Formats: sequence, structure tokens, C-alpha cells
Amino acid sequence: MPDTFDLTVIGSGPAGYVAAIRAAQLGMKVCLIEKDKTLGGTCLNVGCIPSKALLESSHKYHEILHGLDNHGIEVAKPKLNLAAMIKRKASVVEQLTKGVAGLMKKNKVTVKTGWATVKKAGVVSVEGEQIATKNILLAVGSTPVELPFARFDHKTIIDSTDALALPEVPKHLIVIGAGVIGLEMGSVWKRLGAKVTLVDVAAKPLAVMDDSIADAALETFTNQGLEFILGAKVTEVKGGKVTIEKDGKAQTLEGDKVLVAVGRKAATANLGLAEAGVTLDARGVVQIDQNYQTNIPGIYAIGDCVPGPMLAHKGEEEGIACVELLAGQHGHVNYGAIPSVVYTHPEAAGVGLTEAEAKAKGDIKIGKFAFRANGRALASGDATGFVKVIADAQTDEMLGVHIFGHNASELIAEATVLMEFKASAEDMARCCHAHPTLAEAVKEAALAVANRAIHF
Ligand code: NAI
Repeated sequence: MPDTFDLTVIGSGPAGYVAAIRAAQLGMKVCLIEKDKTLGGTCLNVGCIPSKALLESSHKYHEILHGLDNHGIEVAKPKLNLAAMIKRKASVVEQLTKGVAGLMKKNKVTVKTGWATVKKAGVVSVEGEQIATKNILLAVGSTPVELPFARFDHKTIIDSTDALALPEVPKHLIVIGAGVIGLEMGSVWKRLGAKVTLVDVAAKPLAVMDDSIADAALETFTNQGLEFILGAKVTEVKGGKVTIEKDGKAQTLEGDKVLVAVGRKAATANLGLAEAGVTLDARGVVQIDQNYQTNIPGIYAIGDCVPGPMLAHKGEEEGIACVELLAGQHGHVNYGAIPSVVYTHPEAAGVGLTEAEAKAKGDIKIGKFAFRANGRALASGDATGFVKVIADAQTDEMLGVHIFGHNASELIAEATVLMEFKASAEDMARCCHAHPTLAEAVKEAALAVANRAIHF
């Protein structure tokens, strides 16, 4: 079997397809294998992109329904055409997945469709074909965690993929898990008219984010009509009936859809990894070294199937770093500066350490600035939330930035860039920001670290 490819990437999500492009740019002969008909993985097909399309559409609908009176705009009651909304989402997905296919062609990456298995280092099999390859890169992603007592029937008990294509607005959507998916999909269906109840074992939604964001999210989304039952254990799910136990008391909720959004797990089953001798942990996560290499030389892994946050952009960075290292370059990912965003309205975003994490490491200073003191936020009528900057008490280096507010997803980029360059809070505070913009609130929060915010 001749050495056909320099690199064979298994999985065409953001981690895999970006790695394939970068490897091709670096002169490697690349093969990309995808089990699904379209490229792009979870993110493009059933994750980030379609959820953002529905979040945008449902936000527009909700805004017209409730939010324009105070702008002096009176509109007749809008009518929801759910089928058209879902169709638009599908066309956005189609455009992007075709775009990825185009990028593969442009970069001369060979694409194969089918279920790939690793035979051993240097050999991958797909649809009966043996592919010889110098290196193998696993970018196989993740799948929703299934609760043993709430198996997905994809009709009543649904996963995030099902929640992106419901044929009608549920009357009562019960969401198990008030994390990222729970809040994003809960928001979509609430805006379109469903009653939405989120149940979580944790005491707060978005428990992994900074406490200030979790608190603000609970208050704001409760005001938006989402119902939260927190600190509650789900003990039984039978169709739409969800029995929970809270403070020693049992209660049964009745919904017509139950979305289980309790996390995702590495999709590493049935890939031949055990036979090939690749080490996984007890949860199926591929173990890698600092070069993204598994314990088997020539087999690498990136993205959701390796340790770390399950975020598309984290996988992309790992893909680039991994193949640059393979090419003898100095690829690197700064895990301390990976932003995370929740695309609710308002959005929640954070980069770096939370206050609790930073405090555990040493003395810190905090600057906070509310959007209600920001001219642009007031002018747009969207002044909920704040920016919080955490800096080292001695060096003033920014350790974490957390934003709850309109466009937080875009605002966090400035903080991420500056943290990548190890900037101090004063560095950010001394940068000129256009007026009037929401970004001025970021500058003001940085100023507030030294108690010198101007508009406070
Ligand atoms: P998550 O980890 O964000 O939230 C899961 C929630 O379920 C937690 O609050 C947890 O306390 C709760 N939970 C766990 N077991 C439970 C149980 N038995 N009963 C009740 N509650 C329980 O996970 P989620 O929302 O499923 O998202 C999965 C992954 O996808 C995450 O890693 C996330 O980062 C990623 N993702 C990222 C998005 C973004 O970047 N905007 C959007 C959607 C997903």
C-alpha cells in the first residue's frame, strides 16, 4: 500500500476542516473523511450556525411583538411562519456547508464520505477502502449526553438537533440542563410562544461562567418569562412527564417536549481506537500530549474529542497548531485566552479566569461598568448588563473579562486580543474607543479597576 496521504483527517467540523485547509496550505497532501453527507460537522449542520439563525429570527419576531412601542413604532401583531423560519435556517446551513466543500476543492483536499475507522497508525479504512497516510488526525467531535432514564425518542424526549427543527411551537418545553444549549434553545422557543421550564441540579444557570453572569442570567431570563427550577434532581422522565426532587419534595412537570441538554460527550466509539491502542479516559476522551499526539505515534486528536471546553473556535485553533507542529513550525494555543459566548439576549461572554478562579490564585482588583451608563446602550434601548474586568492586584495584568449585555459576543474580542498580548487593565483603559459605542463600557470597566471610571 503506497503512502498516499501526508495527513488524513477524520471529521469535517471546524476543528477538522480548518486543520485540513492549514495542512494543505503547508504543502501536505490531505484527505478529509466525513460520515455525513455535508461537511461542517455539528457546528455548521446542527449546532452553532442553525441555532444562531433561529436565535436571530426568533429575536426579530419577539422584538416586533413586544419591543418596538418604546421606539415609537406601532406595528400590527406579527404572524409566525415557523416553516419559513426553519427553511431560512436550513438555507443558511446549506450555504455554509457548500462553502466548506468549495474550500476543500480550492485547497485540493481529497474528501471521502463514509464511516472511517482507524486500522493502525498509518492506515484508515472507509467504506471498504484502505487509505495509507503518514499521519491521522482525529477530529470526530462530540454527541449529546443521554440520561439513562430519559432515552431520546426524538419525538417527545429530544436532543439539541431535534430542538432546531420542531414542526410546531411546543405548548410546554421542559429543558433538563440550564446550560448553554438549554438557555439558547429555551430562549428560541419561549420567544416563539412556548412555556419553557428549565430544570438543573446546579444552584444557578450557566454555572461554569463567572458568578456575576450566572446571577444576572437568572434574573434577566426569569424576567423574560423562562421558568427555572434549580438545585433539583430529575428522578424520572416518562414521555413528557418529568419528575423532579427538590428540597426533599417530589413534583411532576408535564410538557409536550422534553429537551435533554446536560452536556456532550466525546464521539470516540466504534472508530477502532481501542484496537489501534489509542488511550482514552473513562469518558472516552482521547488523551494527547502537548503536540496533540496520542500515545500512538502518528495519531493525533483535536477539538471536542480531547480535553478542554467543547467550543468550535477552540477546535479550530487546535487544528491549526497541530498541523503547524507537524510541519515543524511552532503552533500554539493559549488556553487562557479562549472566549466563550452564550447567544441569548442579552448575550453572555467571558474570557480568562472567573472571579472565583482568580481569587484562588492571588490578590485581584475588579472594575465593573453597567451598560445603563453607556450612551449607545441607552440610545438603542438595550441597556441591560455590565462589563467586569478582573486584574492582578500587583501587576494589573488582565486575568479575566466577563460581559453580560447586547453584543457581548463581539465585545469580548477586544479583551481576548489584549489578554493574548498580556495587557494590563490600564493598557485597555488607555486605548481610545469610538463614541458612542458599547465598547466604551469595556474601556470604562478597565478604568474602574483603578477607581477612575468617568461616567460612573
Ligand atoms: P452545559 O455543560 O453548558 O450545561 C449542562 C447543564 O446541565 C449544567 O448546568 C448541569 O448542571 C446540568 N445537568 C447535568 N446533569 C443534569 C441532570 N441529570 N439533571 C439536571 N441538570 C443536569 O452543556 P450543554 O448546554 O448541553 O452544551 C454542551 C456543550 O456544547 C457545552 O460544552 C457547550 O460549551 C457547547 N455549546 C456551546 C455553545 C456556544 O458556544 N454558544 C452553544 C451550544 C453548545
